Amino acid sequence: MESVHPAWWKEAVVYQIYPRSFKDSNGDGIGDLNGIREKLDYLKDLGVDVLWLNPIYQSPNVDNGYDISDYRDIMTDFGTMADFDALLADVHAHGLKLIMDLVVNHSSDQHPWFIESRSSRDNPKRDYYIWKDPAPDGGAPNNWRSCFSGSAWKYDEKTGQYYLHLFAEGQPDLNWENPEVRDQVFDMMNFWFQKGIDGFRMDVISMISKAGYADGPLCADGLYGDYTDQCTNGPRVHEYLQEMNRRVLSHYDCMTVGENANVNPELACLYAGEDRHELNMVFQFELMDVDGGESRKWEPEHPWKLTDIKKIQTRWQTGLDGKAWNSLYWNNHDQPRVVSRFGCTKDEESRVRSAKMLAVCLYLMQGTPYIYQGEELGMTNKHFDSIDPINDVMTRNAYFEKTQRCGESVADFMKAANYISREHTRTPMHWDDTANAGFTTGTPWIPLNPNYPQINAAKQVGDPDSVYSFYRRLLALRKSDKTFVYGHYALLLPDDEEIYAYTRTLNDEQILVVCNFTDHDVPCPLLNDWQNTELLISNYNTPGNPGSLRPFEAVVYRK
Ligand code: GLC
Ligand code: CA
Repeated sequence: MESVHPAWWKEAVVYQIYPRSFKDSNGDGIGDLNGIREKLDYLKDLGVDVLWLNPIYQSPNVDNGYDISDYRDIMTDFGTMADFDALLADVHAHGLKLIMDLVVNHSSDQHPWFIESRSSRDNPKRDYYIWKDPAPDGGAPNNWRSCFSGSAWKYDEKTGQYYLHLFAEGQPDLNWENPEVRDQVFDMMNFWFQKGIDGFRMDVISMISKAGYADGPLCADGLYGDYTDQCTNGPRVHEYLQEMNRRVLSHYDCMTVGENANVNPELACLYAGEDRHELNMVFQFELMDVDGGESRKWEPEHPWKLTDIKKIQTRWQTGLDGKAWNSLYWNNHDQPRVVSRFGCTKDEESRVRSAKMLAVCLYLMQGTPYIYQGEELGMTNKHFDSIDPINDVMTRNAYFEKTQRCGESVADFMKAANYISREHTRTPMHWDDTANAGFTTGTPWIPLNPNYPQINAAKQVGDPDSVYSFYRRLLALRKSDKTFVYGHYALLLPDDEEIYAYTRTLNDEQILVVCNFTDHDVPCPLLNDWQNTELLISNYNTPGNPGSLRPFEAVVYRK
């Protein structure tokens, strides 16, 4: 037998919950902790193992909870600490685990630390954040653009200095160089572990160490510079994570996943290498940039090529094999819906078929799958006619900067937003076809996708042909054979623009996964070699023509 490095979090499937939009239990239009509790049976039946909750801490909600004003309290909108304790107990009683979002690159500007820090230059908490003098002309200390548009620096009248905010103004960056900040963060993490949580997803964790504060290369529009080189993978990031591991993580049987902008497989092996004592795995962004979705986000054109998806995934699959561990995701609260992006929504048949195919393609690779709420129903992007109904701070700020300062047309911006905006995955979950999709009895905090009467959980749970039922079967299949977890990956047909085919091999067992990404029949002669092997799953109920794939067909064989 081959030696793999077994771990429960490698065998687990994660389900991501965006609490604000999952289920409202008290009619105020906002999803909440008790709402999540109501749905634990649904999640258990689906076959997931771990729930990841987007931030549920006290927050003024400039960025929907990613701006935390109290790390040890629950957001009033979501409930109380007693509700949290009850939820955690219930999650565990269901045999599930729960991981929290850890947002410690920055806090809210309403956090008591920041309120003190900005109160005077000699306040003991001044050094909790990153304060710099104005440039000689009085302007910002450097040319960096915030991830949410505009300068990354905000001038504070009272003390005559600027503070750094790589995200919104209400999200000042914490100064990790200050050992007291690290003490505070590690204490807070221990507080949650002592409550019994099972791990953390670490927000923009590759940004906690800054290399310097020089101007960055000018962005294409010439307005600002890019901070990426100086703010990701900084000189002390591994030291900080190893310290975190020593002081916190190593004391618990937990799982960790870092959100790592700007990593490649080699860097991932530093963050999540088997012998590194840092994190268990990272979220990579290369796949999310295959269509320019990261680097050219607000440009109207986003074509992608299957061969590029294959190149990226294959580099990660082979680059981490035996050394580190992959996380597998198609979408999350920062990305649009996968079936709209890489599948096909031109008609119901294509939507259902391609949603299933995409699940087969990614979730049978080596790594831990992350399913985003509603993905298991094949939920789609929503169409936005204008910026008005959009809540997301990133999309709104970019809209004003691009259309008012850069002279981009509204039509071009809305085209991009309709493709890539974070808003698409933040509309409420579709539970049934009653008013507001059963999400709330009140007025939803954000408008729903109007297609909920067609696409909803109630309709799909009992339907054996639904996307939901297929996800259930697929997750059960993944669990039934360790080759899906630990097997080595090898790409077939690297130059094919229509078919994604790969094998997984462990000891003397081999599995073949073949997916047709097109809406037409495609010849696939390699299937002939597998004709007499065991068909494990398919998204069609009847056999097709030998050596050929039907539209969006996905098949998996074992020999
Ligand atoms: C991460 C989160 C995103 C948030 C940002 C700032 O990228 O996923 O939602 O806006 O960090 O915290
Ligand atoms: Ca509520």
